[in-house]
Amino acid sequence: MKPKVFITRQIPEAAIRKLEETCEVAVWKYEDIPVPRDVLEKEITEASGLFCMLTDSIDAALIQKANKLKVISNLAVGYNNIDIEAASEKGIKVTNTPGVLTETTADLTFALLMATARRITEASDFLRAGEWKTWSPMLLTGQDIYNRTLGIIGLGRIGEAIARRAKGFNMNVVYHNRSRKPEAEESIGLTYVSMDELLQTSDYVCIMTPYTNETKNLIHAEHFKMMKENAILINTARGGIVNEKDLYDALINGEIWAAGLDVFEEEPVPLDHPLLTLPNVVTLPHIGSASISTRSIMAEVAASDLLKAVNGETPVHLVNP
Ligand code: DGY
Repeated sequence: MKPKVFITRQIPEAAIRKLEETCEVAVWKYEDIPVPRDVLEKEITEASGLFCMLTDSIDAALIQKANKLKVISNLAVGYNNIDIEAASEKGIKVTNTPGVLTETTADLTFALLMATARRITEASDFLRAGEWKTWSPMLLTGQDIYNRTLGIIGLGRIGEAIARRAKGFNMNVVYHNRSRKPEAEESIGLTYVSMDELLQTSDYVCIMTPYTNETKNLIHAEHFKMMKENAILINTARGGIVNEKDLYDALINGEIWAAGLDVFEEEPVPLDHPLLTLPNVVTLPHIGSASISTRSIMAEVAASDLLKAVNGETPVHLVNP
């Protein structure tokens, strides 16, 4: 009998076909919304492999229901949606998709930085609303990017890729990380600084840490008070790393100039969220790695690691070795 695999959302066909070669595959594809909990609870009891999304909460209670599960393969580099400890206790492997989304996510992060600095969405809305009466010297003026300082909090693969882009714009790049990265400092031209110095000196503060118990609420009121009045906060990591209430207050009180957010504590962000009322907040619906090519490669990588684990081999991107 073929091992069963459950995929929690429609993914690129090539990845499904690859899994179908050796597994019995079921896909939740009725609506492009997260699979209902009751369906997931039923499917996980018999599945050998679970192919899931960052929108699926794979918690301890769910994992307890798994009888045959060998692997949980997450279509993302972040895996804060999975209870790793509970999976490890049951001997279930967890995999993610690092590396293949680095450049695409860095592209999006830099696009968001530029859009926020130069008020791109606000300007586009202004034109379409018929408010463009004449060219005007200070109309929709934003912040410069070249020669400014970018501070990156969390220098992993994506942080480094953003730093390389920033260097192309002649930016001064500083970073703060749990450990120093002398090679990156040397090859890209980065300066390691304390968190306080980064916040006090950066024109752009880019959040690039993973979301863990330690980084939950990492950036809050105290930090916004340290930042420059012209500073722009960019977050394409996870919403919960930044205290959204404190960010709102900092923007309203003019402690910082603007924010570009691809991620929110609650996703989809409720439409009555206070941050959505501010013109100096540029928002995106968590699309950091969303290029056709990258999402297809992520699906292939996740499928390939799932198959390895189901066949008793060690996956390439194992989160809980
Ligand atoms: C990830 O991979 O963690 C991103 O947030 C989604 O691509």
